[in-house]
Amino acid sequence: MPTDQIVAIPTDLQLLSVSAEMFPFVKTGGLGDVAASLPVALRHHGVRTRTILPGYRSVMSALVQKTEAYVFHDMLGYRATVWEGTAHGHHLYAVDVPELFDRPGGPYLGPDGRDWPDNDIRFAVLSRVAACIAQGCLPNWRPDAVMTHDWQAGLVPAYLRYDELPAPPVAHVIHNMAFQGLFPRELLPRIGLPERAFAVDGVEFYGKVGYMKAALQIADRLITVSPTYAEEIQTAENGMGLEGLLSARAGALHGILNGIDLHDWNSLTDPAVIFPYAIGDIAGRRANKRVFQAEFGLPQDPNAMLLGIVSRLTRQKGVDILAEIAPRLFQANIQLAVVGVGDADIMQSFRALQLAYPRNLVCHLRYDETLGHRLHSAVDASLIPSRFEPCGLTQLHALRYGSVPIAARVGGLTDTIVDANAAAIEEGVANGILFSPTQADALYRAIKHGKKLFRQKSVWARLQRNGSLHDVSWHGKAAHYARLLLEMTGRAPVRIVGDSDIAPRLSDMGMPLSPNTSFTRTARMPQSRPRNPGLGRTDLPRFGTNA
Ligand code: ADP
Ligand code: GLC
Repeated sequence: MPTDQIVAIPTDLQLLSVSAEMFPFVKTGGLGDVAASLPVALRHHGVRTRTILPGYRSVMSALVQKTEAYVFHDMLGYRATVWEGTAHGHHLYAVDVPELFDRPGGPYLGPDGRDWPDNDIRFAVLSRVAACIAQGCLPNWRPDAVMTHDWQAGLVPAYLRYDELPAPPVAHVIHNMAFQGLFPRELLPRIGLPERAFAVDGVEFYGKVGYMKAALQIADRLITVSPTYAEEIQTAENGMGLEGLLSARAGALHGILNGIDLHDWNSLTDPAVIFPYAIGDIAGRRANKRVFQAEFGLPQDPNAMLLGIVSRLTRQKGVDILAEIAPRLFQANIQLAVVGVGDADIMQSFRALQLAYPRNLVCHLRYDETLGHRLHSAVDASLIPSRFEPCGLTQLHALRYGSVPIAARVGGLTDTIVDANAAAIEEGVANGILFSPTQADALYRAIKHGKKLFRQKSVWARLQRNGSLHDVSWHGKAAHYARLLLEMTGRAPVRIVGDSDIAPRLSDMGMPLSPNTSFTRTARMPQSRPRNPGLGRTDLPRFGTNA
């Protein structure tokens, strides 16, 4: 089991994080969570993060003590004001271009559910402004390193390379290879990149401009959100056409698991949990199942296995195969609660199932942060039948709250769940159930296996307890981010304490140890945050087709 691992930096490293989402201002998935919780975790390692976000309405209204940091009179054809301020303890810059960001709907999709047609320009503007800040355009702050997230920030390293000005190094974090930000070649002059950038060693990808491709090609370090996904994306099956490039850059590619914010996910203080219970108090959570069943009109039967899922309802998440086997599950006295939003056809199939099986299925086909928390405190098992999963946060939420994850054996799910096979049960180390391939029969069999274990009360309780003891924090993971940032900026020394849960290739980095470096842990009091105040959260799935 990984333990606390510490990297301390004697002098603070100033980091600019560039993201299209950040909880609680704007979130459509795990990217928003990570962009918010990683900077907090990095603070313990001497990394001071400032995050730059598009000036969506929800971001602009959240900023406090806001000051005008810079005005670009012609930012790719727009007047862009960079506002600096704080919100929820984060130091933020917001790129305020009302024509691009002050609109209803979600960060990527309009109210009609389609991609905003100007997403190419919107995220080029975000990246171009971030690149200018990286180059030192602000009078009072300049970052030592830049961290870019997903395709929306992928052009930052490209701007830095083709400007040929002094600039800090960039670490690009890949959250999902399925979304690449591919746009027609004619875009190039419009986004302010020179013709020579349209090359195989630049932004060109199969005749298009590729925002993710640009970052994979140019960024100094590539980080993806689990060790297994780091391997998977080097294969044709999961590399989405970029496996060759990723293999060629394997030396710069690292897989570091995501963590979650343990204060947000504390069942004793979480306002979403009806009957608070201490992490690991398996008996203490029982009342939550009862009240959840009652709240949503399901029979209050403690022996009926209650399954839950909190997810984008898309093909990536394998929810279509869950809908396929649902009638078979319901015949076996299994209950299912779904909290999700996404593809119209998948939502429709759940609606139809709910009409047919009102005593077995309850659906909340919307985004609801509170229910997303409550569900894991109440259900017996949480389903994550993904076709691919770069990391996945829902299994971490489930583990922490004592719900047993039943998940596909892919990506970060493999790295965080110990399957309840006979040997693992015998050794007392199992914390969930893994299945493969992601197909209806395999999922059905995994749930049936789960039901068998559910009936063996002590075995099930052991799975739950192991899960809640599993380290889902950022501790060791943030240390490795810090370590990579240090290495990238040529800084030393660092001090490492404890085990590693990072991809093996990092273990031979051989950073020097300093006996004198000190470390201070900062205690955070539990705080209740408003749930779901973000932009367009209620109605829209995260990604459209512009990838
Ligand atoms: P992804 O980023 O691929 O959607 P993750 O598991 O990494 O998957 O993160 C999803 C995040 O979004 C989690 O915090 C999960 O709880 C949350 N989430 C997804 N759908 C919903 C929903 N309908 N309501 C509330 N929270 C949701
Ligand atoms: C992506 C991935 C998910 C990951 C999240 C945060 O959306 O689909 O697996 O947990 O990003 O990194």
